[in-house]
Amino acid sequence: MKQIAILGLGVVGRGTADLFAENAAGIAKRIGEDVRVKYALDIREMPDSPYASLIVHSIDVILGDPEVTVVAEVMGGLHPAYEYTKACLTAGKSVVSSNKELVATYGAELLALAAERGVYYLFEASTGGAIPVISPLVTDLAANEVTGIAGILNGTTNYILTRMFRAGATFEGALTEAQQKGYAERNPAADIEGIDACRKICILAAGATGILPDAARVHTEGITAIRQRDVQTAEANGYTVKLLGRLDIRPWGTFVLVAPFLVPVTSPLSGVEDVFNAVLVRCNYAGDIMFYGRGAGSHPTASAVAADILSVLRGDAKRQTWTVGGADYPTDFRLFRARHYLALTGIDRNAARVVWSDAEILEAAGDELTLLTPEISEQELTDDIARLTPLGAHVQAHLRVCD
Ligand code: HSE
Repeated sequence: MKQIAILGLGVVGRGTADLFAENAAGIAKRIGEDVRVKYALDIREMPDSPYASLIVHSIDVILGDPEVTVVAEVMGGLHPAYEYTKACLTAGKSVVSSNKELVATYGAELLALAAERGVYYLFEASTGGAIPVISPLVTDLAANEVTGIAGILNGTTNYILTRMFRAGATFEGALTEAQQKGYAERNPAADIEGIDACRKICILAAGATGILPDAARVHTEGITAIRQRDVQTAEANGYTVKLLGRLDIRPWGTFVLVAPFLVPVTSPLSGVEDVFNAVLVRCNYAGDIMFYGRGAGSHPTASAVAADILSVLRGDAKRQTWTVGGADYPTDFRLFRARHYLALTGIDRNAARVVWSDAEILEAAGDELTLLTPEISEQELTDDIARLTPLGAHVQAHLRVCD
């Protein structure tokens, strides 16, 4: 019998306990022996929980039990998750995690500690919910050079965008629905401001390059400024709007960013709706590979947590080694190049063409002009807008085009 412990009996912890109860027979067959959740650490008593008898309130119970070899940290937040994870690894227990904030902040250190102690620190569930993407990056695609990643990495915002524009829901109504379904963060600002997607693209970038970007240096925009009319204009011109986390490796720099993008309807990312996530990985030999599935929720995330636990128990888990990016990693965002969607008031198309002679005018309705610039850098865009501002131009909306 293998014994495991769960830290945090919230949405994901409960799902993980459910999975090991419901799939016990199949798991026992595949592992060769029973796997049992021995403890669930939580500050709450939860007398009505089916797992009430497993609840302990002190990490010391788990640390002091040599029968527990794998611990699932599904508490979320940095503290005390960081301290508990270090204590478990130091005690010779492997840790699997769904905690993207912790992995994106301390992943390099925790991976090193796990290697030093001869155990594993795995976190497939931290990024993309149920979708296997971290493991394929470090195994099946390991012989490739990854040149880019574009991911729909936040289920809540994808759900909100889909409900707003397919079902006419309000932003607030769609957010409430996402919260009720257990997709959203405790503070949903982390979802709608792009912070959650930022943590996840940092983890994927580290998985692809071995270098963990400093999240504070990652340009991060959310979806709160997106207007219904921008989406309609985008759709009329063959695009959808998606919040993307991107790693973009170019001869002039390595960029990591989160922002809403216009995605051409020809891209496989454009049809990814509701709580689904997708990660498109661009490889120099494999070409483009897309991973798709449920990016949030109790049971989908539990699936990835449990997969990591089983890989430790089977003995086929893989270690990663990460370094931490320095002051020049990722590259200064001002050098990032894209075509830009701009909705401008106060100028006409002739004035716009003085700055971007080959701009593609999408719409000139009422006093608003919407256009796509040619591919330019962020710095060039800033300079161009500065030239237009004295002419009376105001930027009402700005999105980038994902190539
Ligand atoms: N709030 C996150 C999301 C949960 O909506 O994707 C999964 O990480």
